Amino acid sequence: MKPTPARPFLIAQISDMHIKTRGALSYRVVDTARHLRECIAHIQGLKQRPDIVVATGDLTDFGKPEEYELLREILGTLGLPLYMIPGNHDERGNMRAAFPEYDYLRQQEEFICYAIEDLPIRIVALDTVVPGESGGALCEKRLAWLAATLRARQDTPTVVLMHHPPFRTLIGHMDDIGLANASTFKCVLANHPQVKAVLCGHLHRPIETVWRGILMSTSPSPAHQVTLDLSADAPSCFMMEPPALRLHAWMGDEGWLSHTSYIGKFDGPYPFYEAGGLID
Ligand SMILES: [Fe+2]
Ligand SMILES: [Fe+2]
Repeated sequence: MKPTPARPFLIAQISDMHIKTRGALSYRVVDTARHLRECIAHIQGLKQRPDIVVATGDLTDFGKPEEYELLREILGTLGLPLYMIPGNHDERGNMRAAFPEYDYLRQQEEFICYAIEDLPIRIVALDTVVPGESGGALCEKRLAWLAATLRARQDTPTVVLMHHPPFRTLIGHMDDIGLANASTFKCVLANHPQVKAVLCGHLHRPIETVWRGILMSTSPSPAHQVTLDLSADAPSCFMMEPPALRLHAWMGDEGWLSHTSYIGKFDGPYPFYEAGGLID
């Protein structure tokens, strides 16, 4: 008899929403609030309802209280458990103040680092923000917290969330503002095979790399995407490529799986088959 596969635990990942004050456009071009509303409607319309949503930073554009107020209003329609981390465009104090009901934002006093223990896969969320800087880093305190947190449950499958990816993407201007001490982070990770995936934001593109069997990926934005240009001197610019989100599945012994779901109205679905067989 065929074994019954484990029910996938579905994680929708949204990232880099860059919400501005009401009515303002990001970079005078992007209506990020409209895009986030469309993203939430898209999540609600997915054929399989995600179990949780993770939001991997740059939730707002300038970290202002009014931006978080609008973010909160839009996210209020989500109706799913939500786990957020800050990005370089966020401000920890204003972010915490806007979401008093999310205790996990205050697990740590200084940083928004937390662990979520009651899900089929453990979440370890890292705050890579250096206030005033576009690039990220993990200071000694955060690295020590990460090492201790991973050490505490070495047998539990774990996914790490962080805004700045710990790998080079070849998009020069983004690598210039990447994670400063990625190699130190990886030294901590090297002792923890329970980590199955590292989910990041910041890049506004879907990118994957595998490091020692761990899938490390970034997420597209539900709004604007960073231009695909793999040169060291790529100009810092964005494109209105299709908005998207990630839909990850944790499948236990079968491992980790990641899809990208594009947000928008597209023709179809069209059938492949009709009564007589494959449509010619
Ligand atoms: Fe961003
Ligand atoms: Fe960012």
